[in-house]
Amino acid sequence: MPDVSDVSDVALAETEGQARIDAADSVEALRAVEAEVVGRRSRLASLQQGLAGLPPDERRSRGRQLNEARARLQASLDLRRVEMGKSERRARLESERLDLTEVLPRPGPGHLHLVTQTQAELEDVFVGMGFTVAEGPEAETDWHNFEALNIPPGHPARSMWDTFYLRLGPPGSTLLRAHTSPVQIRVMQSQPPPIFIVAPGRAYRRDTPDARHLPVFHQIEGLVVDRGVSFADLSGTIEAFTTAYFGPAIHSRLRPSYFPFTEPSAEYEINCTICRGAGCRTCSGTGWVELGGAGMVDPNVFAAVGIDDEEWSGFAFGFGIDRCAQMRHGIADMRVLLDNDIRFLSQF
Ligand code: DAH
Repeated sequence: MPDVSDVSDVALAETEGQARIDAADSVEALRAVEAEVVGRRSRLASLQQGLAGLPPDERRSRGRQLNEARARLQASLDLRRVEMGKSERRARLESERLDLTEVLPRPGPGHLHLVTQTQAELEDVFVGMGFTVAEGPEAETDWHNFEALNIPPGHPARSMWDTFYLRLGPPGSTLLRAHTSPVQIRVMQSQPPPIFIVAPGRAYRRDTPDARHLPVFHQIEGLVVDRGVSFADLSGTIEAFTTAYFGPAIHSRLRPSYFPFTEPSAEYEINCTICRGAGCRTCSGTGWVELGGAGMVDPNVFAAVGIDDEEWSGFAFGFGIDRCAQMRHGIADMRVLLDNDIRFLSQF
């Protein structure tokens, strides 16, 4: 039986108890320390039992000292538990933290979309060659989009352009332009030759999106009308544009084709920029990729806008801006141009 009359026993038990509390390094360890320091088998508990044999006065004062010591130890235990709970929780949160920064928007200003940048660069190349930039409406008449381009109603070539018609005016009279060629018509209606224009902009077709087609896409149309313009001028213009935009290693070729608004007509192809002509999946092993069409303006088109084809001749071309961006930057699937994924867009 310990000697309770000795004050230092109580003080010693408290000091020891406090040291063990301070040494506990987890909530788990603290629980064991609590039992040892203030529990039923603790040193304080056995000192408490020893009080019974003391005279009443002494029992009261020693009893008070013991109670005060236990209260201080208990308060200290409670405080440690709260603190340790907090830091253990913090550590757990830290270790379980997910890094979500990838989906946060990048701070700072944005920039022009790749397609817009490409359009501006193409305009620059043609302006450098002496062309001016023209525009036309995206909601267009059937006449400008088809008839004036030598594609009358019911003409089989209409199936080349799977068109969105608008509920506006008489049925079939207005549509979302299926190519930028109607801008040729509007320019020739509004100004006399000589004409040297390019017309970039959106075009619409009822296509299912895939790696190389988008239902909303961009084209750039070119039109030259002057005296004595020849197919050689067309071919030279296309080649000059190709090397200016894609670099000196990439060349163009024209292959016989058919468009109702040109005669003769050609398909405009460039060396595949992915394999540099060796043959790969993007070019189906041919080494060449089609960018668009071209040809000498058909006399029926001149007739539709009242230009005398005895005096004037011209060439025209039209190709995909999105396709140019795809070829220049090696973009496998064009659909990323519409996704607005910041991880893609921020690369350009
Ligand atoms: N408009 C044609 C298309 O979208 C491309 C084209 C071919 C434009 C020949 C022209 C041209 O100006 O002469 O398929």
